[in-house]
Amino acid sequence: MKIIRSIVRGTGSYLPKRIVTNEEMTRMVDTSDEWIVSRTGINVRHFAADDEKTSDLAIKAAERALEMAGIDAESLDMIVLATATPDQTFPASAATVQAALGMTSGFAFDMQAVCSGFVYALATADNFIKAGQVKRALVIGAETFSRILDFEDRTTCVLFGDGAGAVVLEAHEGKGTSDDRGILTSHLHSDGRYRDLLYVDGGPSSTGTVGHLRMKGRDVFRHAVVNLASVVNESLDAVGLTADDLDWLIPHQANKRILDGTSRKLGLPPEKVVVTVGKHSNTSAASIPLALDVAVRDGRIKEGDLLLLEAMGGGFTWGASLLRW
Ligand code: ACO
Repeated sequence: MKIIRSIVRGTGSYLPKRIVTNEEMTRMVDTSDEWIVSRTGINVRHFAADDEKTSDLAIKAAERALEMAGIDAESLDMIVLATATPDQTFPASAATVQAALGMTSGFAFDMQAVCSGFVYALATADNFIKAGQVKRALVIGAETFSRILDFEDRTTCVLFGDGAGAVVLEAHEGKGTSDDRGILTSHLHSDGRYRDLLYVDGGPSSTGTVGHLRMKGRDVFRHAVVNLASVVNESLDAVGLTADDLDWLIPHQANKRILDGTSRKLGLPPEKVVVTVGKHSNTSAASIPLALDVAVRDGRIKEGDLLLLEAMGGGFTWGASLLRW
């Protein structure tokens, strides 16, 4: 049976120039390099410059992905930008990216699923492609989380950073088997009962302010390991594959201990897990495409490899996407 598959044509990413070490964080809050590294695996994070917006990071990542794909922005039909830290309440930051890239047709919108945003955006673009409505899509995850951190709260401000990653998807014909290249299956979940475990205490229709990130870290940790292992198995089951078939797990880079817990639960050896949290910290919706771009450009990911992308974030939201490179 012939079907349409979304193939990744190119990847790109961008990190702001300013690197903030754990030592620098100790000058802001009562913390230590030892505490941060042992609890999270984070060594440094990048923070955007004062005049650098989420769309600026997104544009740079998008340009690199388009360059690798060898295609012009004019030939894109769709842009989905996953972000929880848009430039403005509206218009969508995706519209700013669209204009900057010189794309005057098609459509662009933002996607809000916090740390799961990229997986949600990828699944959305894939469904537009599979429905035959879109041939080429640009999927971006971009965040300036430094703008919503409370730099007096040591339990959260050491965990997050800024960055952007992007992929170009293109419709190709597949045979409908798990040997096809492209996205094989995507699975999304949310459970709003847990919204108060990870949230921002502001917003246009509640406080009229931007607000700060708040989190009950232990509860998030507990749910993350269970939900992530579950959605990974759900994705593999859907196409009749097992964790042994995976070449790469590309998780949302929240915390090294969550990554280790998830891969242990799945029985995956650590060398199959792409880990960038040490250098990038948690960049929310940007973390998966950032990690993906690193592993593509350093040559680890090769044509035919089976990749599993997974994430969990505020809401709670969580999801996974299984694809063959
Ligand atoms: N430096 C030093 N001490 C700290 C810091 C810090 N930055 N932050 C907290 N502590 C202290 C606490 O005050 C507490 O002290 P106390 O025992 O005197 O009260 C102690 O460390 C232990 O605090 P816990 O919150 O219990 O620490 P825990 O071992 O759970 O680690 C952490 C905290 C790293 C946040 C962990 O819960 C975690 O990884 N949670 C997952 C959350 C996450 O990664 N979220 C990212 C967003 S969601 C997502 O992307 C999936």
